[in-house]
Amino acid sequence: MVVVANRLPVRRVERDGEMHWDLSPGGLVSALTPALAGRPVMWIGWPGGGVEMIVPAQHAGIELRPVPLDDAEFEEFYLGFSNATLWPLYHDAVRSPAFHREWWYAYVSVNDRYARAVAEAAAPGATVWVHDYQLQLVPKMLRAMRPDLRIGFFLHIPFPPQELFLQLPWRRPVLEGLLGADLVGFQVQGAASNFSRVARRLLGASGTDTVLDYDGRQVRVGAFPISVDTAALIKRASDPAVQARARQLRDELGSPEVVLLGVDRLDYTKGIDRRLIAIGELFADGSLTRSRAVLVQIAVPSREDDPHYRQEREHLEQLVGEVNGSYSTVGHPAVHYLYQSVELDELVALYLAADVMLVTPLRDGMNLVAKEYVASRVDASGALVLSEFTGAAQELRDAILVNPHDLDGLKTAIRHAVGLDPNEGTARMRRMRRVVRRHDVQAWAKSFLAALHDGGGHGVAPPDPG
Ligand code: F6P
Repeated sequence: MVVVANRLPVRRVERDGEMHWDLSPGGLVSALTPALAGRPVMWIGWPGGGVEMIVPAQHAGIELRPVPLDDAEFEEFYLGFSNATLWPLYHDAVRSPAFHREWWYAYVSVNDRYARAVAEAAAPGATVWVHDYQLQLVPKMLRAMRPDLRIGFFLHIPFPPQELFLQLPWRRPVLEGLLGADLVGFQVQGAASNFSRVARRLLGASGTDTVLDYDGRQVRVGAFPISVDTAALIKRASDPAVQARARQLRDELGSPEVVLLGVDRLDYTKGIDRRLIAIGELFADGSLTRSRAVLVQIAVPSREDDPHYRQEREHLEQLVGEVNGSYSTVGHPAVHYLYQSVELDELVALYLAADVMLVTPLRDGMNLVAKEYVASRVDASGALVLSEFTGAAQELRDAILVNPHDLDGLKTAIRHAVGLDPNEGTARMRRMRRVVRRHDVQAWAKSFLAALHDGGGHGVAPPDPG
């Protein structure tokens, strides 16, 4: 099988004056890497640099094939069309998408490069799994080059409603690109329906929300909600060393009654500012006090060359400063803010140390942090405050669901989570744990690949949260 994604699963980082290959950030890599374990796989993607970058031949048993980008392509394809046109457009236009023809031309040419790399590398009749919004043209291009391949496409982010998608000047070639796949998968049924509807309207495709007839072929469409490696998280969370680290973290935080936690890529879609404003107001009105409660906010650096991301960082750091300036005491900050990525054991220790997890995106395809928190709470304690605008909210119905635009509602939800009756909290957490145990990332990959192969699946319904 060949996996194609914008990034390779590893990226080069400098630590302690030395270069290391670390796991790439984001949900795509954290989900896909364990899901592929044990299968013979080649992964084609960008190593984070140009032709000069020497990439290891394999990672965790996966053969790596780099697709380098030059500086202009990095600007126009990656920062431009992928992250300043498609990213905001597909996330409810929470920032205005920018439309530039030069960016589109770069998108077409880089997608063509990826398609050629796959066409050269794939064995006859191989299965190719193309991922995410950066590579939407690859299925059609690849089918023209290698009609023998079975091609699946999975979109990790939302697919917008017609009203937004129609803004895209290149909406037809994007849809045609996706319809080159045998199976197009989305995180939730709403996204799959948005896609099918717009394909019928713009391209004259016929059929239902689950099977489209287009260009003499049948294309299956479905929802395949991605998940986490539940067994691996449970194993780590049950490790005495990780549990000891969780206790140590609470001590280091000054043994507060309540530890609140946020973990996000630093991205304007994640609603981190809503959360900080709500927390500041809760300290201001006395619902939270520094002696009782602290917030730990991990913001993983992301897309630092994009001005929107730099502005978002400044905005968040100002908010952290304002809350800390008013409510910290010497040696005891109200908000512990870390602009850095965190190793998995430390992350699980943080999940174990946190009484309340805050996941408040304005829009998110799935949000795996919410599922990771639930999977890690091996004693079924803890409360999850979860934005209703995440894919995860459709499965984790026992979270305390919030509209992050509604600050008063968010404050009420945080108060509710902090004061949650332990019996009710355990009952909710048990039900959510059942969801992530039944539907883990291996089940996700299996269901997608089964639907791609047998042609019989029309996507899966989200797992029964009961
Ligand atoms: O699905 C979201 C996503 O864009 C992935 O494609 C990507 O791996 C992750 O977020 C991180 O983004 P980037 O590759 O731009 O750093």
